[in-house]
Amino acid sequence: MKYAAPPYMYDVLPAAPPKESWLHTAKWRYVEGVFREVCCRYGYREIRTPILEQTDLFKRSIGEATDIVSKEMFTFTREGSERSLTMKPEGTAPVVRACIQHSLFAENPLLKLYYIGQNFRYERGQKGRYRQHQQLGIEAFGSDDPAIDAEVITLAMEFYRALGISEMDLHINSVGTATTRPLYKEALRDFVRPFLSELSAEGQRRFELNPLRMLDTKDKNDLRLLEAAPHMTDYLDDECREHFLQLQTYLTALGVPYFVDPTLVRGFDYYTKTAFEIKGRNLGSQDALGGGGRYDGLVEECGGSPTPGIGFGLGMERCLITLETLGIELPVPSESPLAFIIMLGEESVVKPAAVKLLGSLRSAGIAAEMDYRGRNFKKQLKRADELGASYTLLLGDEEAARKVVAIRSQATKEQREVPIGDAAAALLAL
Ligand code: HAM
Repeated sequence: MKYAAPPYMYDVLPAAPPKESWLHTAKWRYVEGVFREVCCRYGYREIRTPILEQTDLFKRSIGEATDIVSKEMFTFTREGSERSLTMKPEGTAPVVRACIQHSLFAENPLLKLYYIGQNFRYERGQKGRYRQHQQLGIEAFGSDDPAIDAEVITLAMEFYRALGISEMDLHINSVGTATTRPLYKEALRDFVRPFLSELSAEGQRRFELNPLRMLDTKDKNDLRLLEAAPHMTDYLDDECREHFLQLQTYLTALGVPYFVDPTLVRGFDYYTKTAFEIKGRNLGSQDALGGGGRYDGLVEECGGSPTPGIGFGLGMERCLITLETLGIELPVPSESPLAFIIMLGEESVVKPAAVKLLGSLRSAGIAAEMDYRGRNFKKQLKRADELGASYTLLLGDEEAARKVVAIRSQATKEQREVPIGDAAAALLAL
């Protein structure tokens, strides 16, 4: 029996696989590090929440009629328990739940958080769309000022800029509020009704359940039919319109280019006012590098006091695939050991000294290795080269007896002897 990772889930490996160089742990760590650094610079602090949440949290927040809740959640009930649990399909609702549970909103009138987390959605997989994916996300609670919308969006753009990605476009829209949206939904239905039967089956389903989502289609015929559909922005009330205009003023002030995209609707019911997506130019059909928006009713919906909020989630996989496509080499730090100990001669004498030396190097903060397979000198040397060690430390019977070791540079082949007890200091000095 051969086991494999579940469909559309993947392993991230210690060395890059030849065809998918983005599945390399060092790259993940590097990108996560850049994200952490940018978040820190903007005053966001890290939060971590469990993989599992009560299913009802997602139903209430994301909305029962959305694709995520109606089709894509990994939900289960443990034998002997009545409680239904779901592997989180996104990060926002769990963060809101945690902040309410720990009274963080009460303690921090303006609360700015970031997270890096795994999400699970039972999707039709393809390149860039997986059943487990990682998001780099932020959420800012406590202000309904459009300047913070601009800050959130700018942070995302800054993150991509720090990685060297500029082949992307920012799309923004306003999706109104729970009060203004019903008017628009009806206008959209009125527009579609005369040709409803020509719409794709999915389009017709959305007409009934969630008409805004009709706009979020890749079906060419649906797109053609919906070309002249009314725009949400024409149905905004004065407050939403003003918010949207101010956001644009701030983005311009910050030098962030954007497109106003009236067809941009996001797959969650919780959004109000600002919605945005960053679309990569090299990603094919799964082109959303990341997206987010404002959700001024969500905290209350989840049982907290009314608290405005805005945030985003950026797809880790799509970010790494973009870097690969653009040929951007990340300056990932070397994982090679500095030193590799090579043993020669009588094992019962040399090995205890070698093991001790290895321990002392590592305690001194030096990345060091040896070969535990009892192999000859040549093979140990080969292993040192394979690992990319900068120095080999040669330890034979005679050196062990004299309590010295020979340090050899793999680059210049120069060699010198030092007392074993001084090896760590000598390497650090090099
Ligand atoms: P989302 O648009 O569903 O938003 O996901 C954010 C990003 O995660 C997407 O733009 C995409 O890059 C990536 N992503 C989503 N699903 C997949 C998948 N199946 N495979 C690979 N990548 C994927 C949210 O989840 C919201 N919680 C974002 C947010 C935070 N809004 C406000 N705060």
